[in-house]
Amino acid sequence: MLLAALVLAALESIIILILLRNRRRRRQALHSLRATLELLEKRLSSRTESWRQASDTLEQAEQRHRITTALLNETKEYLNSIINSMPSIMIGVTPSGHVTHWNAAAELATGIREKQALGFRLHEIHPDLPVTTAMIDEAIANSEPRMQENVKVEHMNSTRYVDITVYPLHSLELTGAVIRVDDVTLRQKLDSMMLQNEKLKSLGELAAGMAHEINNPLAAILQSLQNVQRRLSPQQPGNQAAASALGLDMKLLHNYLEARDINRFLAGMETAGHRAAEIVRHMLEFSRSSSRQLEPTNLNTVAHASVEFMRNAIELSMPALHAKLVIEEDYDNRLPLFPASGIELQQVLVNLLKNAAQAIQEAKREKPLIQISTRHIPPYAEIRVEDNGIGMNINTSRQIFDPFFTTKTVGQGTGLGLSISHFIISQRHHGRIEVSSTPEVGTTFILTLPLQQPGHASEKPE
Ligand SMILES: Nc1ncnc2c1ncn2[C@@H]1O[C@H](COP(=O)(O)OP(=O)(O)OP(=O)(O)O)[C@@H](O)[C@H]1O
Ligand SMILES: [Mg+2]
Repeated sequence: MLLAALVLAALESIIILILLRNRRRRRQALHSLRATLELLEKRLSSRTESWRQASDTLEQAEQRHRITTALLNETKEYLNSIINSMPSIMIGVTPSGHVTHWNAAAELATGIREKQALGFRLHEIHPDLPVTTAMIDEAIANSEPRMQENVKVEHMNSTRYVDITVYPLHSLELTGAVIRVDDVTLRQKLDSMMLQNEKLKSLGELAAGMAHEINNPLAAILQSLQNVQRRLSPQQPGNQAAASALGLDMKLLHNYLEARDINRFLAGMETAGHRAAEIVRHMLEFSRSSSRQLEPTNLNTVAHASVEFMRNAIELSMPALHAKLVIEEDYDNRLPLFPASGIELQQVLVNLLKNAAQAIQEAKREKPLIQISTRHIPPYAEIRVEDNGIGMNINTSRQIFDPFFTTKTVGQGTGLGLSISHFIISQRHHGRIEVSSTPEVGTTFILTLPLQQPGHASEKPE
C-alpha cells in the first residue's frame, strides 16, 4: 500500500516533471516563435518601406516621362507648325533621296499630299523638281549647303523662277538633306523691270544726243529729195523753160525716168526718209517727256480723247476695220483728278489702241472689239485696254517693252511704241504697265497709276 502510494507519488512527480519540462519547452517555443514573428514583421515593414520608396521613384519617373513626352510632342508640333507656316517649300530627304519631310508649302505647290510623299523617292513623285541627286550628294559629302539661283521652272503652263538650297543634315542618328525652294518670280520680274528702266534711261540719253544730230541732215536730205522730184516734174512751168533752153525734151526725159524706174526709186527714198524721221521723232519723245510737268488730270477725259483720236486714225488707215470695229468705253466717275501729264498719257493710250487695232485686223475678227475702262482703286487709278486680236505667246509678251522689238513687217512698226509707253508710265508717273495675253484670243494691257505723286496734292473731280 505504501509502495503503491510511493509509486503513485513518483509517477505523479514524473508527470509533473514532464509537464513542467513541456511547459518550459512550449514557453521556449513560444518565445522563439514570437522572436521569429517580430523578425518577420520587421523585415516585412522594411520591405514594404523599400517597395513604397521604389514605387514612389517609379511614379516620379513615370510622371517625368509623361511631362517630357508631352514637351517633346509640343516641341515637335511647334517645329512642324513653324516648318508648315513657312512660305518656302521644305523637303527632307535621306541620302538615297527618300522623302522624310514634306511641308504645307510643298503640298500647295505640287498638289502632292504629305502622306503620298513620305517614304517615297523624291524624283519618282516629283520629277520636275530641279534638284539633282548630285546636288544632294555633294551637300552631304562636303557638309556645305549647295545653292542655285533663278532656276526657271515651267509649272501649270506658266514660267516661274525659284531659288534652290540644299542644306546637309548631320545628327547622331540621321544623315540627309533639307531642300528649300523659294519662288522668286516677283523678284525676277522686278529685276527685269529695273533693267528695262535702265535700258530705257540710257536710250533716252542716247536719243537726246542723237536726235538733233540726225534730224538736221535728215531734214536736208528730205528737203533736197523733194526739190529733185519737183524739178523733174514735167508739169512745172519752170522746168519746161529750163529744159527747152538746153534743147531737152521734158516729155522724153519723163518717159526715160519712168522707163528706168527712177521715179519709183525716188518715192522709195522719200518713204524711207520719212520713216527715219518718225523714228527720230519717237526717240525725241524720251528726252522731251522728262521735262513735261505733271498737272491735275482727268483720266476719263484723256481716255475718251484718245479713243476719238484713234477712231479718226483707224477710219483713214484701216477703213474696212473701222466699219465693223466696236470700241466700248466704261469710265469710273469716282476717279479724282490726279497729277499726271495728259499729253503723255494720251500718247500711251493711242499706242495701246493702235496696237489693239492692228492685232484685231491681223486676227480678221467677225466682231472686232476694243474695250477701254477706268477704275478708282485708291490709292491708284487703273486703266485697261482690252482687245480680241491675235494675242501673243509668252516669248513675245516677254519682249514687248524692249526698245525696237516688233513683230510687224518692215514699215509697219518701229517697235518703240510700248517701250516709250513703259517709260512714261514707270519713270514719269511711278506707275505700272502690265500685260496679259492669250494667243488667238486677245490681249489686255493694265496701267496702274498712283493718285498721289511726291510733292503733289490730289484734287476732287470738277
Ligand atoms: N494688243 C496687242 N496684241 C498683240 N500683240 C501686241 C499687242 N500690243 C503689242 N503687241 C506686240 O508687241 C510688239 C511691240 O509693240 P510696240 O507698240 O512696242 O511696237 P510696234 O507696234 O511693233 O511698233 P510701233 O508701235 O512703233 O508702231 C508688237 O510688234 C506686237 O508684236
Ligand atoms: Mg505699237
